[in-house]
Amino acid sequence: MSLQQPVNVGIVGAGLMGREVATAIARWSALVDYPIRPRLVAVCDVDSHALNFFDQFDTVRTRVTDYRDLLADAGVDVVYVAVRHDLHEQIYADTIRAGKDLFAEKPFGIDLAAAVRILEALRNHPRIFARCSSEMPFFPGAQYIVRSVLAGEFGPLIEATCGFSHSSDFDRSKPITWKRQRRYCGDAGVMNDLGMHVAHLPLRFGWTPATVFGVLQNLVPIRPDANGVMVECDTYENATLMCNVKVGAGPDFPLMLSMKRIDPGQKNSWTFRVSGLEGAAEFSTRYPKTVRRMDVYRGEQVWSEIEMGSQSVFPTVTGPIFEAGFSDVVLQMWAAYLAERAGVLGDRFGCVTPAEAAESHRIWDAAMRSASSGRAEAP
Ligand SMILES: NC(=O)c1ccc[n+]([C@@H]2O[C@H](COP(=O)([O-])OP(=O)(O)OC[C@H]3O[C@@H](n4cnc5c(N)ncnc54)[C@H](O)[C@@H]3O)[C@@H](O)[C@H]2O)c1
Repeated sequence: MSLQQPVNVGIVGAGLMGREVATAIARWSALVDYPIRPRLVAVCDVDSHALNFFDQFDTVRTRVTDYRDLLADAGVDVVYVAVRHDLHEQIYADTIRAGKDLFAEKPFGIDLAAAVRILEALRNHPRIFARCSSEMPFFPGAQYIVRSVLAGEFGPLIEATCGFSHSSDFDRSKPITWKRQRRYCGDAGVMNDLGMHVAHLPLRFGWTPATVFGVLQNLVPIRPDANGVMVECDTYENATLMCNVKVGAGPDFPLMLSMKRIDPGQKNSWTFRVSGLEGAAEFSTRYPKTVRRMDVYRGEQVWSEIEMGSQSVFPTVTGPIFEAGFSDVVLQMWAAYLAERAGVLGDRFGCVTPAEAAESHRIWDAAMRSASSGRAEAP
C-alpha cells in the first residue's frame, strides 16, 4: 500500500460550495495512485445551522462560527474559503497572514483593487501557496482541447469563444440573492460570478486581451426580497465581451467571453470553441461526453465527434467509458491544487493562479469602462 502525504483542510463558508468541496474530499479514494491525502478537519460558518451538514464527516473536529478561530487551529494546513465576494479580501488576507495555504473561491476579491491587495499579502508571505477555484476546464472534453491548443493543432488562430450560461435568474419572481446585489457581489456582477470560468483557459493560453468591448445587461432590475417586498437588483446579469488578443508577433484574433445568468434553455453550460487555419474544436458541458473537432481530410473540411470518457488530469477508479460530471471536476481541481502545492503537478493542468485571477479582474474592469464609454478599452 502506498503512503499518502496527509494534508489537513479547513473550510470557511459552509454553503453551496463549502458542502460540495467537503463531499469531494470524502470521495478521495476515487483517485488512483495519488500521493496526497486531504482530511477535512475544520469548518466555519457564521450560521451555526450550516455546520450541521458536517456532522456526517467523522474527521471534522473543529466547528466554529468565527473564521479566526479556525485560522488559530495549528493543525489546519490548507483553508478553502467559499463566502460572498465582499468578504473575500479580509478572509483571504487573514488566512495568508495566519500562515495557512489558501484555496480561494472566485472572483478572488470583490474587484480589481481587492485582488491587488490580496496579491500584495501573498508577496509579503512568499511561502504561502494560493490558487483560485475554476473547475470546468477539468472536464475531459475541455482537457482534450487544452492539449490540442497547446500542441498548436489548429494552426494560426482565427478566433475563440468561451461562455458560461445558465438561467438561474430566468424566474422573475425568484427572491433576490446576494449575487444580485452590488455591495455583496461587486460592480462587475455576473463577470465576478461566472467570469473566472471563462477566463481560465484563455489566460492559461496567454491570450491576454489588448482591448475589450463590453455589452453589459441588467435584465431584471427589481425582484422580491425574502418578505415579498420589491427591491432593486443592481448587478449585471449578462455580459458579452469582445476582446482583441495579440499573441507574440502573430495577427490579432477575436476572443468572445460570454457570461449569462439568463440564457433561456441553459441550465449550467460551459462552452469553449476555437478555430484556426488548420482545424477547429468545440466542447460544451451540455454534452459532456462529446468533443467536436474539424480537420482537413482529402481536401474536405470534416467535423468528427470524439466520445470522451471519465478520465481527466488525474486517473480515477471510474470506468474510462463512463461520463464525467460536476463533482468529478471538483475532485480533479482539488487534486491539481494539492499536487501543485506539493510540487508534483509536473506538466499537468493546474488551477487559476493569483496573477491570473487579478488579470481577470482587469478584463472585467475594462468591460465596465467600455460599457460607459461605448468604446473598446484596454485592461
Ligand atoms: N466554483 C464554482 O463553481 C462556484 C459555484 C458557486 C459559487 N462559487 C463561489 O463560492 C463562493 C461562495 O458562494 P456560495 O454559492 O457557496 O455561497 P452561499 O451563499 O451558498 O454560501 C456562503 C456561506 O458563507 C457563510 N458566511 C457568510 N459570512 C461568513 C463569514 N464571515 N465566515 C464564515 N462563513 C460565512 C454563509 O452563512 C453561507 O453559508 C463565492 O465566491 C462564489 O462566487 C463558486
